[in-house]
Amino acid sequence: MSQSASFSSDHIPDISGFYPEKWTIKFVNEGAANLVFEVRLPPSPPSTTESHANGHSDIFQGHLLRVPKAGAKTFPYPELLQYWDSTITPLFPPENLVQHQLVKLGQSPSKVITILDELLAKAESGRRKDFRDTRVLPDAQYGMLIEDMRSQNPSDYFVEFKPKWLSPSPSQRTRCRNCAREAYRDHLDPSHHKAHRLGILCPLDFIACRSNRGSLENVLKHIVPASASPSHRNHLADWLRTNSLLPLLQQAQAKHDPSQGVNLELAMTLRDCSLFLRISTPQDGTGQPARIEAKLADLDKKNAAKKKKHWEELERDLVEGGFYEGKEQPREETDCLLERAAN
Ligand SMILES: Nc1ncnc2c1ncn2[C@@H]1O[C@H](COP(=O)(O)OP(=O)(O)OP(=O)(O)O)[C@@H](O)[C@H]1O
Ligand SMILES: [Mg+2]
Ligand SMILES: [Zn+2]
Repeated sequence: MSQSASFSSDHIPDISGFYPEKWTIKFVNEGAANLVFEVRLPPSPPSTTESHANGHSDIFQGHLLRVPKAGAKTFPYPELLQYWDSTITPLFPPENLVQHQLVKLGQSPSKVITILDELLAKAESGRRKDFRDTRVLPDAQYGMLIEDMRSQNPSDYFVEFKPKWLSPSPSQRTRCRNCAREAYRDHLDPSHHKAHRLGILCPLDFIACRSNRGSLENVLKHIVPASASPSHRNHLADWLRTNSLLPLLQQAQAKHDPSQGVNLELAMTLRDCSLFLRISTPQDGTGQPARIEAKLADLDKKNAAKKKKHWEELERDLVEGGFYEGKEQPREETDCLLERAAN
């Protein structure tokens, strides 16, 4: 991230020094392990404040604040960032990765955390039901500033999705890993499928849509909300047909296959990341083509030691239950590209 000199790896800003009680904060979104906020500093801080004097006053500009959730049992952020630098960065071009930077949340009890928790309590009704009542990890020492990938202008368009498992399973299987797992979920809980009005997208369609019209329509149906303009839809279709990022992610996944038991951590991380797409249409009337930024995020190090047993048991259940071949009883319906191709 190119900020001021104070914004480098050898100096981690302590954002509690920026008077969090004066911030305007918005809850943006959350996942199972992290919370994301938009922070705006007061427009003109008194010139005597430390933040102003240090030239820190705009580090939130263009960035969001990501903090760990209580109870999520993930690695501390410095470890996530280290993993990112050593293991993720070499795999993808920098323009395809959401940039981030550590920040200190201040001495415990952190004022920043108290304020974020107060906001979460107020935002409760807008949160996903199963996430309500969760708060920031109380003794978290670090947060991250992440590049804000949301729309910057009213005519921009932002889409996010998880590409999941992009390679077909070994031969003779008629379902990909993702669809086999979805079938298993439906099998355990019949209400699971019903919760997905459009069915569940087969991730193999992400790669197939380069040459297959049906796959392209399928992906668009799932990732483009009805509110998108025809022009946004066309730009997304072009990107899906021609991008090099999804094939690159597919290659990285193939190279790090969980069934080989080597680097299970990275294998799982590469199958659980998010992809953010932002389409911006120039507003200067120059007729410049729209720009699409495509960046991977949520490439957090997984706790393989803790999850290994669960992953192995799940794989065994999928194989033994016949979910890779659609032989489970009763048979669950999926929309796997492999099943479509076989019919
Ligand atoms: N850089 C970003 N720009 C815009 N929105 C973002 C950004 N990072 C995260 N978000 C929003 O916040 C949500 C949660 O973020 P994140 O993926 O970091 O949480 P998580 O707990 O790791 O999720 P998961 O449960 O999928 O692992 C995202 O789905 C997205 O909507
Ligand atoms: Mg995550
Ligand atoms: Zn599938």
